[in-house]
Amino acid sequence: MEGKPIIAGNWKMHKTTNEGSAFAMSVQNILVDIKNVSVVFSPPFIGLFELEVESPFFKAAQNCHWEDHGAFTGEISTSMIKSCGAEFVIIGHSERRQYFGDSNKWINKKIKSVIAEELNPIFCIGETLDERESGKTEERLRNQIVKGLDGLKDLNKIVIAYEPVWAIGTGKTANNLQIREAHSYIKKVIKELYPSIQDIQVLYGGSVKPSNAGELICVPHVDGFLIGGASLDVDSFSSIVQIVEDIQENK
Ligand code: PGA
Repeated sequence: MEGKPIIAGNWKMHKTTNEGSAFAMSVQNILVDIKNVSVVFSPPFIGLFELEVESPFFKAAQNCHWEDHGAFTGEISTSMIKSCGAEFVIIGHSERRQYFGDSNKWINKKIKSVIAEELNPIFCIGETLDERESGKTEERLRNQIVKGLDGLKDLNKIVIAYEPVWAIGTGKTANNLQIREAHSYIKKVIKELYPSIQDIQVLYGGSVKPSNAGELICVPHVDGFLIGGASLDVDSFSSIVQIVEDIQENK
């Protein structure tokens, strides 16, 4: 999976266990020849165990708790996620930050627990419309990165997802320049914090669909996608993966 673009579907609160398994099977049957892309399915927790995948297809949880076990009703730990065969955990999605109280401090603890379990965090950051319009995008991104990664010595397993909050589920995609600037800024901050790091993968998320995937994957510093709505449909998700695969193949 090293270095290849990652196309991750975030199903959010969609699909029963059976629906999820059938979906993942259909996508894998369509995309039998994929070699240049890692593909990630992120079902709700209960679908994680049953979902059958084989590399280059992987599974992700959408959240976790930072403790390994204990009296935390309704929570799931990273060792439980690992025991389902997942490789990734999405952390700090804007919906978790907005509706479920995920603070930078919690996100930092969650990232640490994902890494301790040798899983890969997909660490989500992004500015709101207000922050963008008041010129605070970079300040916001830096703050989320610095606080989210506080105390981490190396970033081996971390993937960052840049998701402008105003582009999630709205049909509005950030334009190529906004995406390029944000991704290169994120990489600059990471390089400042971790001078020895070669590169970090930064995914773009926010209304990615088959009609814009080809253009967006060619934006400098875009190393894959985190996809909500378009990841729920077999045809649209498969065609996004195929578009990225073909572009990689012809590089
Ligand atoms: P969207 O969601 O593709 O539906 O905009 C992206 C996300 O929430 O990760």
